[in-house]
Amino acid sequence: MAAEALIPAWRDRVEVALQEALSRQPSFPMLQEAMRHAVLGGGKRLRPLLVYAAGRACNADEVVLDGPAVAVELIHAFSLVHDDLPAMDDDSLRRGQPTVHVAFDEATAILAGDALQSLAFSILADAPSSAAIRVLLVRELAQATGAQGMCGGQAMDMAATGATLRLAQLEQLHSMKTGALIRAAVRMGALSGGASNEVLAQLDTYADALGLAFQIRDDILDVEGDAGQLGKTAGKDAAQGKSTYPGLLGLAAARERLAALDEAMQLALAPLGANADALRMLAQYAIARAN
Ligand code: IPE
Ligand code: IPE
Ligand code: MG
Ligand code: MG
Ligand code: MG
Repeated sequence: MAAEALIPAWRDRVEVALQEALSRQPSFPMLQEAMRHAVLGGGKRLRPLLVYAAGRACNADEVVLDGPAVAVELIHAFSLVHDDLPAMDDDSLRRGQPTVHVAFDEATAILAGDALQSLAFSILADAPSSAAIRVLLVRELAQATGAQGMCGGQAMDMAATGATLRLAQLEQLHSMKTGALIRAAVRMGALSGGASNEVLAQLDTYADALGLAFQIRDDILDVEGDAGQLGKTAGKDAAQGKSTYPGLLGLAAARERLAALDEAMQLALAPLGANADALRMLAQYAIARAN
């Protein structure tokens, strides 16, 4: 199948797998509804798409990619539910819908995030890969989610609100809060296909550039977009004094950095040949996306 056709097919595939993951176990109805609201209400599904695309680049069977694809999206959804809480970014709109704490209540939003996180690891533990690969996947996702990854980056983001960071500090923050999960998505796809250390190193370079590019684009869209287009409130970063790339260096420099990251991604993928076409398409999408 051509890369253009693969991406919509993977999007449909992960949508079905996410539905399935969230309908399996009965729970307290309001908590279950809040989890479904957080996950099933839209979203670009970039991280699952990266799992499938990296898996394809490493000849993994799609059947073993569903677990990591679902798991990384559940962690991402949890991170958004908590990111939107009044104690963090205090947002009322997400994916064109009221945020979870607005649609339900704050306690339910906290618990829904917690429960999405444990569901992610439970799905990885049950994935149809070998036990050895499942351990690698659990380690990868746990490290990317925790204090050295997304949670650590979110802590830095909160501490940096209202402050001015140096560029190296801002890139470190982005690499943790957004880059870590994107890197984990790529690496989980590759690990599921038994990738060599050399291929993993190429893919790490690609994923690091992609993670930074993705957050720079998010920060540019916050300046230039509107809520109707973004499905989330625009103009919030400046209003809240967030540390962002365009805030620190201006929009023109942010765009130049995106172009440089685009080249870095293409170079990193060059040795992987046509098998990496879907990864190439996702790189273009991350840089040019309008929401
Ligand atoms: C938003 O992520 C949060 C960031 C890390 C910038 P996405 O832009 O991937 O959000 P959805 O999943 O498409 O809603
Ligand atoms: C959030 O970054 C990154 C996460 C770990 C959730 P932002 O705060 O910029 O994400 P949006 O703009 O609210 O989606
Ligand atoms: Mg935030
Ligand atoms: Mg936010
Ligand atoms: Mg943002």
